[in-house]
Amino acid sequence: MKKIFFVALLVFQNACTVKLSDTYVVSSPDGSIDMTIKLKNGNLFYSIQKNKSQILDFSKLGLIANTFSFDSSIVLKSVRKKQRRTSWNQVWGEEKVIKDYHNEIFLQFSANNNIIGVRFRAFDDGVGFRYEIPKSKLSDYEILDELTQFNLSEDSPSWWIPAYAYRRYEFLYANTTVSEISRDKYSEIVENLSGPRLGPEAVQTPFTLQRNDGIALSIHEANLTNYSSMTLKVNGTTNLECDLVPWSNGTKVYVDSDLNTPWRTIMIADKASDLPMSTLTLNLNEPNTIKNTSWIKPGKYIGLWWEMIGTNQSTWGSGPNHGAKTERVKEYIDFGSKYGFDGLLVEGWNLGWDENWCCTGDGEKFSFYQPHPEFNSDEVNAYAKKKNIRLVGHHETGTQISNYESQLDRAFQYCQSNGIRVVKTGYVNDGSQNIKRLGGDGKVYREWHHGQFMVEHFRKVLETAAKYQVGLVVHEPIKDTGLRRTFPNMLSREGAKGQEFNGFMSTSDNNKPNHTTILPYTRLLSSPMDYTPGIFKLTNYRYYAPDDRSINPNHRIPSTIAKELALYVVIYAPVQMAADLPAHYEGHPGFQFILDVPTDWSKTKVLNGEIGKFITTARKDRFSSDWFVGSITNEEQRNLKVSLSFLDKNRSYEAIIYKDPDGGGWLKKPEELVISKVKVTHKDQLQLGLQPGGGQAIHFKALD
Ligand code: NOJ
Ligand code: CA
Repeated sequence: MKKIFFVALLVFQNACTVKLSDTYVVSSPDGSIDMTIKLKNGNLFYSIQKNKSQILDFSKLGLIANTFSFDSSIVLKSVRKKQRRTSWNQVWGEEKVIKDYHNEIFLQFSANNNIIGVRFRAFDDGVGFRYEIPKSKLSDYEILDELTQFNLSEDSPSWWIPAYAYRRYEFLYANTTVSEISRDKYSEIVENLSGPRLGPEAVQTPFTLQRNDGIALSIHEANLTNYSSMTLKVNGTTNLECDLVPWSNGTKVYVDSDLNTPWRTIMIADKASDLPMSTLTLNLNEPNTIKNTSWIKPGKYIGLWWEMIGTNQSTWGSGPNHGAKTERVKEYIDFGSKYGFDGLLVEGWNLGWDENWCCTGDGEKFSFYQPHPEFNSDEVNAYAKKKNIRLVGHHETGTQISNYESQLDRAFQYCQSNGIRVVKTGYVNDGSQNIKRLGGDGKVYREWHHGQFMVEHFRKVLETAAKYQVGLVVHEPIKDTGLRRTFPNMLSREGAKGQEFNGFMSTSDNNKPNHTTILPYTRLLSSPMDYTPGIFKLTNYRYYAPDDRSINPNHRIPSTIAKELALYVVIYAPVQMAADLPAHYEGHPGFQFILDVPTDWSKTKVLNGEIGKFITTARKDRFSSDWFVGSITNEEQRNLKVSLSFLDKNRSYEAIIYKDPDGGGWLKKPEELVISKVKVTHKDQLQLGLQPGGGQAIHFKALD
């Protein structure tokens, strides 16, 4: 007993006060990362070395408020060091146990008679730091600017999407050196950014780059709470600056209590394929606040969805082709129930779709508890209950925040009383500064999608959902910063260009085969994604219009069936959609993989990968000894040799391999799938032959 107590003390209370000086170094537990903190002429700077190479030169820190300035005349008052060596369990996720090993240094300063602290933490997979301002002397105040810089030591290739652009995060990634980043460059090499160019030249986070020595970095933030999102302002050099998305009046953040800013984070890895295994963002969030989590269940869902957004045979709103009709929904229930799906998403079930709901930011008619007359809510929900499947609710808000907030309790009450445990929300709008906010003065203001107004809105919805035991899958969200640790009902979100674009955009404008080989090193570093994989009918699937059922040949999904299967492993989400129509799955041999693949894992290993080229991910089922592998490539064919040493040592496995035919790929025979079986152990190696734009999915079934 005594010994346990002693060890606990060592683990949790290893803290000490440090003598005042003008330079400090905090290193990662494995010694590979050193962060140097320097005070010079009343200014605070930090720099970073990885494996003794300089990766960030001295970069300035600071905050300017209307009541104080933490900038150029700060005075150091105290310094404390601390270390932590512990671990915690995820309610669901890519890994069951997360190791939290870090070293910390906390510096407190006085700035205009206010006490302001900066806490730095160094982990083996990166660093984080934040500003801490106790309330005591300050009344309510406004942050006018955050001065944090990320002064990169090298002009490396980077992968980025523009900030302050009209489609939020729904863009393909540009790949340029850091100093080349600009909206003009984006328009030149990816997509013309039409429309007004408001806001500064900046990129969204996670912002990823890879140095010439192979070291990969990704700048992001953790625990975005009561603050505004950080974008990174560019200026043609390699010194990026924190840019907080403002309110419509220019104020960056309103503060009315103690303030711990979000953590500014830099994931750092020896090679790109280590980045997706980083747990930095989760470790810098607060522990779970939901005591009873038994109602939060990962799983798979189908949807009455692709027939609107993909095949274009149905409509959300009223009319002869309205999709969400009682009898049609019951057919989906039969299919989902037959194959053991957990959920069925039904879009167009409610009132409001017949109004002008989209894109002007002015429609106000959505109801979140009144069903469309053709959707008999009682009958459908009773039928779903009988068939042991739950409906997944849908709240398209059209970004009418006050309309949605005025119905929030009733909306989630409706879910709870109908057995709905997951809701997909949506915020379609012109994503530039167009979100309607009613000011206290009765006037209408237009806000950005990523500013403090929306950060607070999304938190309100998340907390209300938790109160009624509902989990969220958010479309058109703000970026994730690891909140799923604190609120495990924050299941998944879109927040990138997803499969839907392959549905409604023609081949020339939809996603490219390399898009899903960039996401794991960029967007997916922040959280699970509702990409909605699993389309099997990849060509000739879209009608010209719901009332013109002739095939529009200008649509092709840039993928193969084998790649669509591999995405279930590569893209993590606790609730994954099988996005295609039931008719395209029924009787298809590849469907078995979708039925078998779990969405909750005990271990994850990225076996190989390069940004924008390929990735191979292995995950172990949380509830069995089975492993699953997904491997995908860009436009290029490649052969990857993988060692199976990740498999459990004491077992043999049957590997069920789903791959593209030789000579196949996204342009040739994308809908052909070759399935084979082979017996393997951890001593074996496999040769993965990936066809252009294709992939491979493997289920390793434990035999004993
Ligand atoms: C955009 C979402 O991403 C999509 O999934 C949804 O179907 C439409 N909005 C309509 O809500
Ligand atoms: Ca979307």
